[in-house]
Amino acid sequence: MTTHKVMLLPGDGIGPEIMAEVRRVMGWIEGAYGVSFDVSEGLIGGCSYEKFGHPLTDDTLAQAKASDAIVMGCVGGPQWDGKTDYDKRPEAGLLRLRKDLDLFANLRPAMCFDALADASSLKREYVAGLDILFVRELAGGVYFGEPRGIEDLPGGGRVGINTQRYTDQEIIRIARVAFEMARKRNGLVHSAEKANVMESGLLWREEVTKLHAAEYSDVKLEHILADNCAMQLVKNPKQFDVILTDNLFGDLLSDAAAMLTGSLGMLPSASLGSGGPGLYEPVHGSAPDIAGQGIANPIAAILSFAMALRYSLDMGDAADKVEAAVSKALDSARTGDIWADGFEKVGTTGMGDAILKTLG
Ligand code: IPM
Ligand code: MG
Repeated sequence: MTTHKVMLLPGDGIGPEIMAEVRRVMGWIEGAYGVSFDVSEGLIGGCSYEKFGHPLTDDTLAQAKASDAIVMGCVGGPQWDGKTDYDKRPEAGLLRLRKDLDLFANLRPAMCFDALADASSLKREYVAGLDILFVRELAGGVYFGEPRGIEDLPGGGRVGINTQRYTDQEIIRIARVAFEMARKRNGLVHSAEKANVMESGLLWREEVTKLHAAEYSDVKLEHILADNCAMQLVKNPKQFDVILTDNLFGDLLSDAAAMLTGSLGMLPSASLGSGGPGLYEPVHGSAPDIAGQGIANPIAAILSFAMALRYSLDMGDAADKVEAAVSKALDSARTGDIWADGFEKVGTTGMGDAILKTLG
């Protein structure tokens, strides 16, 4: 029997609740596909900081590296918001995981389930059938660039510094992912940067153009300024197929697009490196306001696990099956964030039940 080593990092807030539903789906897959998951669990984020004084310990990192796939919940919460020590914040644990595993390619699908088109903040006709894939650079840019810090100015006052920095190689490797993905989809890439004001954006545009001409001229490439991209996303989102962008713009644009799909609670993501395990996590945060109440939507986490099946565990069929089950379950049961008249309102476990029932 094939055994897959999967590390679960539930994290903070609603993380443990939604991950419990992922575990149930994993159990179903074991039975249905004759595989076994060797599951280990670790701490990340605020919960790890409370226990070990650090948001991600060396031990947990080593265990994560030794697995086939890592499925994370979410990190952060108001109790850690005041910490100015950046490397102790919950988010630092996640950033360390991304950086240490060199997970440079963040895939964020923003698809609108037909059942949810009316839950979007845009009218149904703009979002029904929406299917965008963000390819966000995740291991570079202003998130990690040096110099950084807060310094005293010689004449008094202080300055906060972050550096946007991209090498040609970093740009090329993420652009390649975007073009490859577009080939399997609708053959269109929008590359978003701010070449009009940033040298890093100009280099981005030049390198993407060169790679496109040399190897991917069968794919259609459009360059778009990131601010215009934000506007187009709310004006006419269905014009997009793949959106290639950097770490910071990708963070912003993918949140905006997520909202178009009806709920942030629906969207999964995959972060891939050049070998080693991928990291799979919902796009949403830890939702501390509803944590512990059993009402959080577990779908983004379950769909993240489906991406793990597809990209790290070579179980594309099982991924299709889980995605179809989620889509079908939405016809009957809905958690509060996506609830509408005529549907049964369920909690986290109830949503899991509905999905498992559809799986059969
Ligand atoms: C995301 C999150 C993270 C980011 C935070 C939690 C560090 O917003 O994955 O989009 O900014 O990348
Ligand atoms: Mg974000």
